[in-house]
Amino acid sequence: MTTLPPGPPLPAAVQTALMLRWWSAYAFACQRRYGDVFTVRLTGFGAGVYLANPRDIKTVFAGDPHIYHAGEANSVLGGMLGPSSVLLLDDDLHRDRRRLMMAPFHRDAVARQRGLIAEIAAANIAGWPVGVDFPVAPKMSEITLEVILRTAIGATDDQRLAAMRALMPRLLTLGTFDTLAIARPSLQHRRPWRALRRRIAEVDELLYAEIADRRADPNLAERTDTLAMLVRASKEGAGQDGRQMTDAELRDQLMTLLLAGHDTTATALSWALERLTRHPQALAHAATAAHSGDEDYLDAVAKETLRIRPVIFDVGRVLTAPAEIAGYRLPAGTTVIPAIGLVHAEPAVYDDPGRFRPERMLGATLSPTTWLPFGGGNRRCLGANLAMAEMRIVLGEVLRRVELATTTAPGESLRISGVIQQPHRGAVIRVRAQLHTE
Ligand code: HEM
Repeated sequence: MTTLPPGPPLPAAVQTALMLRWWSAYAFACQRRYGDVFTVRLTGFGAGVYLANPRDIKTVFAGDPHIYHAGEANSVLGGMLGPSSVLLLDDDLHRDRRRLMMAPFHRDAVARQRGLIAEIAAANIAGWPVGVDFPVAPKMSEITLEVILRTAIGATDDQRLAAMRALMPRLLTLGTFDTLAIARPSLQHRRPWRALRRRIAEVDELLYAEIADRRADPNLAERTDTLAMLVRASKEGAGQDGRQMTDAELRDQLMTLLLAGHDTTATALSWALERLTRHPQALAHAATAAHSGDEDYLDAVAKETLRIRPVIFDVGRVLTAPAEIAGYRLPAGTTVIPAIGLVHAEPAVYDDPGRFRPERMLGATLSPTTWLPFGGGNRRCLGANLAMAEMRIVLGEVLRRVELATTTAPGESLRISGVIQQPHRGAVIRVRAQLHTE
């Protein structure tokens, strides 16, 4: 017999509203009341079973991908990413497409992008205002968008780059109303959502132009961008299913990289500065490290930021068959939810978990079930190496190029935007001075 763990007896509509507004706070409240395994009910999703015990999370991440469907759990993003997105696929096709996309995100490939990332960051930082408060999140968004456009998509045409820079932020700042038509793409043909459809079509046009350029490029073999690698692999028919990737499939992967890799990394960087400016000792240590080129402390800052302010609070897997987890036999159709944010705040795992202390990450061996900002198992974030490198490089450039003021203002609270937990004021900082660097 299958059973569900206990959870709040509130109607699904009420729980959905509470989660949309106070996602993590609601999960913390449920954990306090029901313990490390509890069930929430959300409109359109049925039962969601939160898991906060690393042992249970291991069961999910190490489980059979045919039973634990992440693509199905991510299906609400379908109207933007498209049906072939690696985020939305499951089973053999997911394994196959994911394999094709791994090479550009390997550590060595990412290391080759180092100079470009630093250059993009430096150009942006040079324009930061001095002596006034400003939210740094939009600046970080500009930097990380540029990094994806240049490294993943490989865009070089000035006009096309300018158009993408203008269009992408408009696609990412969607209201709740628009997200309905992302979850259910057929709505995009109805009048209230036609503007959204047009915005997606404008970005598509630019992406298809890049794909056509790459297919025709005589120097394709030398190119290092993700799109070139995908075109090469698909030309060789490298997919296990023997099928080449069509233009539409390539478009879906590019849109996925833009969406998955841009605001996530920008938000992580914004939180890092929000935390550092409230912790003078850590800020001083990080600045010294940046000036001496020591990346270990900057790496620790990035890891501790992602622990204490995980950009994505939880990840889901829809069960395609009953599964035994945490002493419950859960029915097929249940979404199991490894709760990244709950584990990261667990006193049994992290001493004094509410304290921002990068030192705890220095030389630490992190377990994939207790430090999991990038999810896990066969669905672990494809861009994790790039995101971590970007965080170290951009933080290093910021701290070498400007002197940041510390603040005694209370920490910024969380604001949910889509599936991302952002600082509610956009991480307001103040630059005391632009420093002269060689
Ligand atoms: C700090 C920045 C980032 C965070 C916190 C983050 C987090 C995540 C998380 C939690 C998942 C879901 C994992 C799961 O279900 O277990 C994911 C998946 C994914 N991420 Fe990231 N991500 C970041 C940056 C990036 C970047 C830079 C890229 C690429 C340019 C990227 C591409 C992807 C892709 C393609 C997937 C889908 C993987 C699959 O389903 O097989 N992410 N990410």
